[in-house]
Amino acid sequence: MKALILSGGHGTRLRPLTYSQQKQLIPVANKPVLFYAIEDVIEAGIKDIGIIVGPNRDQVIETVKSVDWDANIEFIYQGDPLGLAHAILVAEEFLDDEEFVMYLGDNILKDGIVEHARRFKELNPDSLILLTEVDEPQRFGVAELDENGKVKRLIEKPKVPPSNYALVGIYFFKPIIIEACKNIKPSWRNELEITDAIQWLIDKGYRVEASIVKGWWKDTGKPEDILEANRLVLDEIESEIKGSLDNSKVIGRVVIKEGSIIKNSTVKGPCIIGKNCEVVDSYIGPYTSVGNNCKVIGTEIEDSVIMEGSKIINAGRIIESLIGRGVTIQKGDSKPTGQRFVVGDNSNIVL
Ligand code: G1P
Repeated sequence: MKALILSGGHGTRLRPLTYSQQKQLIPVANKPVLFYAIEDVIEAGIKDIGIIVGPNRDQVIETVKSVDWDANIEFIYQGDPLGLAHAILVAEEFLDDEEFVMYLGDNILKDGIVEHARRFKELNPDSLILLTEVDEPQRFGVAELDENGKVKRLIEKPKVPPSNYALVGIYFFKPIIIEACKNIKPSWRNELEITDAIQWLIDKGYRVEASIVKGWWKDTGKPEDILEANRLVLDEIESEIKGSLDNSKVIGRVVIKEGSIIKNSTVKGPCIIGKNCEVVDSYIGPYTSVGNNCKVIGTEIEDSVIMEGSKIINAGRIIESLIGRGVTIQKGDSKPTGQRFVVGDNSNIVL
């Protein structure tokens, strides 16, 4: 079996972060979201992985290649992102008539895909879709099931959802899906929807089975989803202190990587502090991820994601924030007093 991982798209709902960063590279617990998908397919024993890349392809290729993966990874350029079914068509040559799992690179799944891959093998259907119950099904593709749990119908982002079962962005397919993708028309959002391609399989009498996801699942499409995914991953983190502590207190499960210095501070887990950070006279609270090479001085931070190379100095108390790379937030000391901003398009500041 092969794997097709999607790492294209514009990530408009995550602006301004996605003006400079491909959305699947945004870190959750200091690891790009995309890496969780790669690890899951490798854990399921898959050795051939195709990664679909789009506008920021160089960034994705460079980041993926910075790790020595136990699999062959090929990059496939999608051009314009015209939908998930379009991505399959672009990868037709790579897929080479084999069965495969398609994994959306912005999805994170607690328990991985090993169990679902086993179910796909056992049941041997034309497609196995992963479903999970959600509160806002209208945000996703939704499945209608019959009394026996069989998939009757799939609808993309329905206004009136027939159930609470959302399509998780992980799908197992036999090669017949390629014919399905060739036979559907673009949707209202001008995309070739994978949901429509799977519906085509159902309509033509092919066998589509469902597998219910029991642990948590997160589609990291919006800022609040990144924060939630960060909490969920940190909830399972194990302590590892490699940096140095000077007159500081560590409470709970905390990771502090090599070269980081924590001075006159309190760090309360679950949280992670990357490499070569400086945390002085500060409090780093639960559900916070601080990327490599950050400086936090005289500040309290809780429930936030601070990306690589940012400096936060005497900035009061920061909560529920997503802070990009190389950002500076500091209290000014010149007159007149007042807040001074240099903020990019579509930023969001709550004072
Ligand atoms: C896509 C699929 C949708 C699925 C979701 C899961 O939505 O079209 O059916 O439920 O991924 O992440 P999109 O992220 O393109 O809005």
